[in-house]
Amino acid sequence: MSVLPPQRLRALRTAVRARLLPWFARHARALPWRAEPRPPYAVWVSEIMLQQTRVDTVIPYFHRFLARFPDPATLAAAPLRNVLKCWENLGYYSRARQLHRAAQILVCDHGGKLPADPAQLAALPGLGPYTTAAIASFAFGLSLAVLDGNVMRVFARLLALPADIGLPATKKKLQRLADALLLKDKPAATNEAWMELGALVCTPRNPRCADCPLRGVCRAAQTGRPEAYPRKKKKMKVPHK
Ligand code: ADE
Ligand code: SF4
Repeated sequence: MSVLPPQRLRALRTAVRARLLPWFARHARALPWRAEPRPPYAVWVSEIMLQQTRVDTVIPYFHRFLARFPDPATLAAAPLRNVLKCWENLGYYSRARQLHRAAQILVCDHGGKLPADPAQLAALPGLGPYTTAAIASFAFGLSLAVLDGNVMRVFARLLALPADIGLPATKKKLQRLADALLLKDKPAATNEAWMELGALVCTPRNPRCADCPLRGVCRAAQTGRPEAYPRKKKKMKVPHK
């Protein structure tokens, strides 16, 4: 079964190329990890930091970390306590331990560099499907579509999706949609444009549909209540005693 009727899929793909990418080219924030060229190591460090932390908080940590540990070999050779010190107050310290361990694997098995092969990337500690696709596309230009919570919210609204996005089946469907909407000549820009739209326009509360490049193809905007998507699971009724 396909994700959407072919005609609707074509309309969305056209909007991605003609509306979303030009909007992104104009409005993308100049974040330090977006500066070209994008060394795989810097992309990796930024994506691990951004997994559970807001952009504003990450920026100074990203600069300090790269100054202190400029490449995988330096990171691998550093004592773990120095790595944790550099991570202090960023939280979710298992991320720092996994980065350190992964750097040692890079040195031992991959010549001290991030591998460009998605399967080898995915095997490193700390890399789930989202982070693997982010590194593969941003650093290596490979056609893997990212799907995180922000992108799922945008998709749920575009489709006025009735399903709960917490369900694995819904996530699978949305991953297929992300794959189908990825422009193979511009995977990095497509991925980052979805993320940027979710961060700047299609926000969890008060999405700015009037400023949205995709409002013409968005079903949730047409309902007049975009915030009703993604649909929340009904709260479990607590039985009275
Ligand atoms: N969150 C995760 N990856 C990001 C990126 N490349 N830019 C902005 N926010 C992000
Ligand atoms: Fe989100 Fe509104 Fe844009 Fe639809 S039109 S994608 S709800 S900001």
